[in-house]
Amino acid sequence: MVTLFYFFLFPLLALSTATPAAALPLSTESRWIVDESGHRAKLACVNWPSHLEVMVAEGLSKKPAEQISSEIIDLGFNCVRLTWPLFLFTNDTLASLTVRQSFKNLGLFEAISGLQINNPSIIDLSLINAYKAVVGSLAKKNVMIILDNHTSKPGWCCSNFDGNGFFGDVYFNPDLWIKGLTRVATIFNDTPHVVAMSLRNELRGSRQNVDDWYRYMQKGAEAVHAANPNVLVILSGLNYDRDLSFLLKKPVSLSFLNKLVFELHWYGFSDGEAWENGNLNQVCGDRVGETMKKAGFLLDQGYPLFLSEFGVDMRGTNVNDNRYLNCFMGWAAELDLDWALWVLTGSYYLRQGVVGFDETYGVYNWNWCGARNQTILHKISALQYPFKGPGYSEARLHQVIFHPMTGLCVKRLSLVDPLVLGPCSEAEAWTYTPQKTLTIKGTYFCLQADKLGKPAKLGVICSYASSKWEAISDSKMHLSSKLKDGSDVCLDIDSDNNIVTNNCKCLDKNSRCDPGSQWFKIIDSTRCGADNSLPEISSIVKLISKNLLASFSL
Ligand SMILES: *[C@@H]1O[C@H](CO)[C@@H](O)[C@H](O)[C@H]1NC(C)=O
Ligand SMILES: *[C@@H]1O[C@H](CO)[C@@H](O)[C@H](O)[C@H]1NC(C)=O
Ligand SMILES: *[C@@H]1O[C@H](CO)[C@@H](O)[C@H](O)[C@H]1NC(C)=O
Repeated sequence: MVTLFYFFLFPLLALSTATPAAALPLSTESRWIVDESGHRAKLACVNWPSHLEVMVAEGLSKKPAEQISSEIIDLGFNCVRLTWPLFLFTNDTLASLTVRQSFKNLGLFEAISGLQINNPSIIDLSLINAYKAVVGSLAKKNVMIILDNHTSKPGWCCSNFDGNGFFGDVYFNPDLWIKGLTRVATIFNDTPHVVAMSLRNELRGSRQNVDDWYRYMQKGAEAVHAANPNVLVILSGLNYDRDLSFLLKKPVSLSFLNKLVFELHWYGFSDGEAWENGNLNQVCGDRVGETMKKAGFLLDQGYPLFLSEFGVDMRGTNVNDNRYLNCFMGWAAELDLDWALWVLTGSYYLRQGVVGFDETYGVYNWNWCGARNQTILHKISALQYPFKGPGYSEARLHQVIFHPMTGLCVKRLSLVDPLVLGPCSEAEAWTYTPQKTLTIKGTYFCLQADKLGKPAKLGVICSYASSKWEAISDSKMHLSSKLKDGSDVCLDIDSDNNIVTNNCKCLDKNSRCDPGSQWFKIIDSTRCGADNSLPEISSIVKLISKNLLASFSL
């Protein structure tokens, strides 16, 4: 029902009320990114590439920069990770090339006419001023900006052999790198909306090693901080930003505090085709465990972890991606991570030699007119709003039951209607007790398994096994309970998004089977949700009489 509703609102609709604009600059408080007033500022970003051969933010031939900026906000994102190629800031010949000339040099004449129509004020700017103009248009719409040093040599990233992988590679001169970082940090010194700089995308290749990582990353971080002490400094790991495990033994040593953030990338294809070929509960449990070991532990150590790239094929036909996304959503919601979706682009001016390259992972469709897949965007929007963090009242601490496959949460319409899925902003507030009951916060009503294939219900006698809910399976995302006859059931949804109980799916080694509908996460939240006032007496009476009738009929 909810899904259908969103289909009608085309082309782009506000997916959620965006988090209120943060008071800048940002800093860190243990694992959280906070604003000037100490309130959590959750980064819910989208990547906007600007690092390909043309060196101009993609899409400007299709739409005015300001319109793209407002649509980013309308989609519920509060931030953009704007990628840039180093040479733009170190090679003056390149930087002073005009946008028009850069397109001409590559033979992209159709894009030039598009730019002329959609961004006439940008087309004759130098490349560096065009980059600034895009930053300016984002800032004007209150979008926070993270500048990401994506490559040195402009072009599609990344491979082990592209000479951009690690300090000392052909196109990766460390001194030039420091020079470029300093230059960029300085240029945007007076743009408060530039809230962070990531020093280098996806370190990789045969040259990578931990010693050089510390040596250069610390140096780069100091250079950025010296040039612009306001920005967060984001450090990427080794092996395509999949591995920060070396930090477990040796922390980074910097002269400044409360500005350091680590970043991680995680795609479905990061794990090959494991998602498609394996048993999904096993793969999810295994990959999450691995990710926690390689990077997630940093949260426990008191550092923010920014998931600066994740994304899926928006056609919805890539089984590996679809399966990965459900597991990822559960993990990212539970940890309430900061993140950046890859990628805004509907199509590229030129990518890997193809003019108008269609981006199947794109938020926009090919002509940048509408969303490529509203359903997937809506699902991901569940991660945009913070569940908890500094500035949120601990007194409000409760649990919500999140359903990753839909990006929705369990909510209650009344005491007598079945529970359903609804937006997490309207989630029911539960207390998950040490006895493993799920009680509606502030009441005696607990969630109970009733009959196979039938709605789970609310009752007041909560000591039976049918009122206990345990997270089971390798993924720990099945919520399992028992029926009166002692048989095991799992929480599930039916085709109308009602919360029901069914036989638990995919607990064996079967790789064909997809447990998605039965995956739930119990998540700590201090966010204002459903109205928690006690139910009216009349509905309590109705519920009790309904329960009584039910027991008589047995
Ligand atoms: C700067 O860029 C121009 C144009 O691409 C190129 O010809 C030149 O070699 C570059 N200079 C350096 C120092 O890399
Ligand atoms: C960006 O990264 C490249 C590595 O490809 C490096 O050579 C360059 O100096 C970096 N520039 C900045 C400004 O970080
Ligand atoms: C969007 O993705 C879903 C899978 O999540 C898929 O079923 C649907 O066909 C996709 N829609 C479009 C328009 O591609």
